[in-house]
Amino acid sequence: STAPGTLTIQADKPGAVINRDIFGQFAEHLGLGIYDGVWVGKGSKIPNVRGIRSDVVDALKAIKVPVVRWPGGCFADEYHWRDGIGPAAKRRTTVNANWANAVEPNSFGTDEFMDFAQQIGSEAYISVNVGSGTVQEASDWLDYMTGVAPSSAAGERAANGHKAPYKVKYLGLGNEMWGCGGPYTGEEYVTKMKIFAHFVHNQNPDQAPPKVDFAAIAKDLMTGKAMDSLPANPNGMKRIAGGPNSADPSYTEIIMKAWKARSPIYWDIDGISLHQYTWGSLPFNEPATGFDEKSYATVLMQTQWMDRTITKHSEIMDKYDPKKHVALVVDEWGVWLKPRAGTESLFLIQDSSLRDGIAAAMNLNIFSRHADRVRMTNIAQMVNVLQAMIMTEGPKMVLTPTYHVYRMYVPFQDATYLPVTFNAGEYKVGAITLPKVDALAARGKDGKVWLSLVNLDANNPADVTASIPGVAASRAEGEVLTAASFNTVNTFQAPAAVAPKPFRAVAQGGSLTLRLPPHSVTVVHLEP
Ligand code: AHR
Repeated sequence: STAPGTLTIQADKPGAVINRDIFGQFAEHLGLGIYDGVWVGKGSKIPNVRGIRSDVVDALKAIKVPVVRWPGGCFADEYHWRDGIGPAAKRRTTVNANWANAVEPNSFGTDEFMDFAQQIGSEAYISVNVGSGTVQEASDWLDYMTGVAPSSAAGERAANGHKAPYKVKYLGLGNEMWGCGGPYTGEEYVTKMKIFAHFVHNQNPDQAPPKVDFAAIAKDLMTGKAMDSLPANPNGMKRIAGGPNSADPSYTEIIMKAWKARSPIYWDIDGISLHQYTWGSLPFNEPATGFDEKSYATVLMQTQWMDRTITKHSEIMDKYDPKKHVALVVDEWGVWLKPRAGTESLFLIQDSSLRDGIAAAMNLNIFSRHADRVRMTNIAQMVNVLQAMIMTEGPKMVLTPTYHVYRMYVPFQDATYLPVTFNAGEYKVGAITLPKVDALAARGKDGKVWLSLVNLDANNPADVTASIPGVAASRAEGEVLTAASFNTVNTFQAPAAVAPKPFRAVAQGGSLTLRLPPHSVTVVHLEP
């Protein structure tokens, strides 16, 4: 056996807060993501509250979903919100042109989404239709959601059973505007985006912009100064611009340049979206089950690319925004694998193995290391689509390994990042070399030091001796997620093949060594 790896937590050098919204979700009208996955209808035999299935709600409550992005994705730029309000029998039936031309009954619309968000205790991230909709339509939608009497949209909402305005924490200004959102160059998109950012208002009094000092603004205008001193409202709606495709820097550069030259009283943004998926070596076709060690290592190796993509866009953003006002919002990410045999390929139904859970942990660690710039992410997607938390089939439900990782990472929500140095050697598969262990440390809101340790090595345990200079940790307690193989999947027949188990390590001779099983994720808190 080899000497244990070492890991040192610098508890005296706290970094940024790991915004809880980093653990956000994405739920699109796509395949069985909403219909079946969330919405079963009020008359369903599947237990539900106002049509929203209770088993899924209970499972999501346990992972403390901070924010959900809805209604798309590509769907958002073809969505017309008026189709989805009012009496169910009167709603228009449309076709989901992006996703297999599936029938869209519009029975799950704005009020149902807000009900769902409230049932799971989550904030709303609404993506408005910039690609094929109008500014007026988006502005009316915000009025419907957030307006107060005597606005007629507020009256309409009240007539639909919801007197109080909803809170919209985030507003998405278009999705993949270089792709399904419309074939816009960066410059064309900025022209369009600025208009949406200017005219689409949030009317909720709790989120209203603070009063501005017009005399000060007039002075700023006269002197040509940027109006960075405008009063901030921490509870105000945050606007997220559509952004780059993976490593392509062009959108980031163009949007940030425009942002730098803005007059914040006319338009502003709080974030830029970034989408990056992990495909493996066969885009859309990397096997999701029964794969070999090379495929396992390839997906984990590509997972690491997230770090360099974020670094690349952050460097561009730093040029224009060194104070980091604008967040990088990774609002679509995850492993995108071969669809399950026998399913509609455009429903993006894929089985989820332990490998995906490990990839999720690695990504969450990367985001946390960039917490000063990355302040929200939304994994694609919540139920039944791509790297889902939950799979359903009729009344059945199963939790994926990724779900368990999200549950184990709850203590990292709003925790304070702690730098951690570690070396546990390498894990090699053919030409691929990976660090054997990946680690994240943070001080939780409970005051405890939390540690996540991922052992990537498919074949060998990893021993890691953890220390905090100046603090004697006598034990580590938490949970470990692993299974017989890296390709083990939770199925309806064997739903707990990959499930967390208690983990405990006690210091011996003054040193605390944790033995991490092969292909595992361990989350512990350290006790004195
Ligand atoms: O998550 C599936 C799709 O991937 C989204 O609709 C789109 O934005 C992206 O291309």
